[in-house]
Amino acid sequence: MYYSEELIEEVRQKNDIVDVISGYVRLQKKGSNYMCCCPFHGEKTPSFSVNRGRQIYKCFGCGEGGNVLTFVMKYENCSFPEAMKILADKAGVTLPQAEYSEEARQKESRRKRLLEVNKEAAKFYYYQLRTERGAKAKEYLDKRRLSEETRKNFGLGYAPVRGGELLDYLHGKGYDDDLIRAVGLAKTDEKRGTTTQFWNRVMFPIQDIGGRVIGFGGRIMGDSDSGPKYLNSPETEIFDKSRNLYGMNYAKSTRTGNIILCEGYMDVISMHQAGFTQAVASLGTAFTPGQAGLIKKYTKDVLLAYDSDGAGVKAALRAIGILKSAGMSGRIINMSPYKDPDEFIKNLGREAFQERIDNAENSFMFEIRMLEREFNMEDPEQKTNFHNQIARKLCDFSEDVERENYIEAIADKYHIGFENLRKLVVNMAAKTGGYAVPVERPRSGVQSRNKNTPEESAKKVQRLFLTWLSDYPQLYPKIKNYITPEDFTVELYAKVAQRMFDDIEKGSLNPAGIINMFEDENEQSEAASLFTTKLPELDNDTEKEKAFNDILLSVKKNSFDYYSAKSGVDITALGKVIEGRKALEELSKTHISLK
Ligand code: GTP
Ligand code: MN
Repeated sequence: MYYSEELIEEVRQKNDIVDVISGYVRLQKKGSNYMCCCPFHGEKTPSFSVNRGRQIYKCFGCGEGGNVLTFVMKYENCSFPEAMKILADKAGVTLPQAEYSEEARQKESRRKRLLEVNKEAAKFYYYQLRTERGAKAKEYLDKRRLSEETRKNFGLGYAPVRGGELLDYLHGKGYDDDLIRAVGLAKTDEKRGTTTQFWNRVMFPIQDIGGRVIGFGGRIMGDSDSGPKYLNSPETEIFDKSRNLYGMNYAKSTRTGNIILCEGYMDVISMHQAGFTQAVASLGTAFTPGQAGLIKKYTKDVLLAYDSDGAGVKAALRAIGILKSAGMSGRIINMSPYKDPDEFIKNLGREAFQERIDNAENSFMFEIRMLEREFNMEDPEQKTNFHNQIARKLCDFSEDVERENYIEAIADKYHIGFENLRKLVVNMAAKTGGYAVPVERPRSGVQSRNKNTPEESAKKVQRLFLTWLSDYPQLYPKIKNYITPEDFTVELYAKVAQRMFDDIEKGSLNPAGIINMFEDENEQSEAASLFTTKLPELDNDTEKEKAFNDILLSVKKNSFDYYSAKSGVDITALGKVIEGRKALEELSKTHISLK
């Protein structure tokens, strides 16, 4: 959904920020501001302030800030269009159904057609399962103890041996081979003509969050027939495996407050059958940041129900890392002595599984327990090594209290003296630049850990820069001679920078308008986060200035490196390099003051 600037402004202006926020929390007037305890972080004394004149809010505790639209997005945990809808309804503004360009309209109508093809195919498979020909598939599902209701709920089906039947059926409904190929249900080559992707398999339609069929998984019946156990649709215009999750269309509306992430379709299905409708799985590929982002819209509490074998543990450790980078916590469900949730529930039932959920292990403790397996504790050298590695991991906690709590828990569990472990952590931090020694930590917020890849660091400084500028737009005139939107090598940031610079020139920085430049929800929330991210807490203006100057220089330096690398092949890049070198030289001699 794409709204015009005027409309966004209208919705914003018709929703007074004090009135709207008062609908969520209790505000008290203090001078010209309204204050309350921040709804976005736990606190006992109010540091959340709302300013009616400027129509903005800001928390001096956690740094959250923005306008009425970003508040609703954050509080309701919703997307920008959803926030627009909520506020438009409140103010009695009618939103247009859709404001589409011709190109967007065509794209949308093609999407619709492709989804129709999938839906018809799903119907076809569903029907086949209930015919004589589907007898073997039915028998297989019986064996796996899936109820009729479950089969219906997940739209399970059967792809018959002769693929031509699906093609005939779809042709009969008016869909041509081009469309059928475009959804990955068929391919054409010179030797064999047009053939279907799936035959003689039990079919699992894969639905997006709105319940639309975007692809399929097909399983062989039995254990070792020919071909791979599962075959999935390839990625297509409508099937992005990295941004969808199997079962999410149901899981999104469960009220358990958590999501259970499993490895397989069958796990999801059997969990839902047992009443755990918060179960989801990735789509035959490893868990991705895009999927973490999808879950995060609903909850930050994720339980991992991965297989208990070596590959499952590895996958779980990877998923934990992804969840962490997305600012979410993961807990691990212990499945032993069974391999996966499906087997567990079949053998021990629903109550036993609920108990495992309640006792799920904190991801850090899980990581350490898995690490322990790699060492022989009988050997003093290996034991020391293990302790050192624990200390190194403990350095990653940036919050003092949290780190202390973990030191205590680990010391307790692994019988290490608390003070000894603590000393080890401090020494480790001094060596590697972790969080435990705040004095030595670079305070720009850029390189708090040294494990970032160059791309990650580059991305991070660019975001930080934009967050700085949104907090201190008055800095723009001082930096505009040094920085251009092209210096932002991440495409999304380049777009934001261009727009932010233009806005500031015009004297009206408008976060909602910037968020609205993006149609994709993930991009919107990425853009929104620029306005709600907390800058590092710095004690005084000198430190702040230093941090800002560091970031400015890093952005420029990164851009210089980026264009230098390209300049061998790209002539315009060379121009940027020459220009960049001059700017860098000047910048390294300049000091931008925040005043
Ligand atoms: P069952 O073995 O029937 O219980 O299914 P499962 O869903 O438990 O499968 P499993 O745990 O073996 O694998 C987890 C997921 O990995 C599956 O749901 C598929 O998405 C994917 N997968 C498994 N085997 C294959 C394969 O041979 N090819 C591909 N592309 N994906 C597979
Ligand atoms: Mn299984």
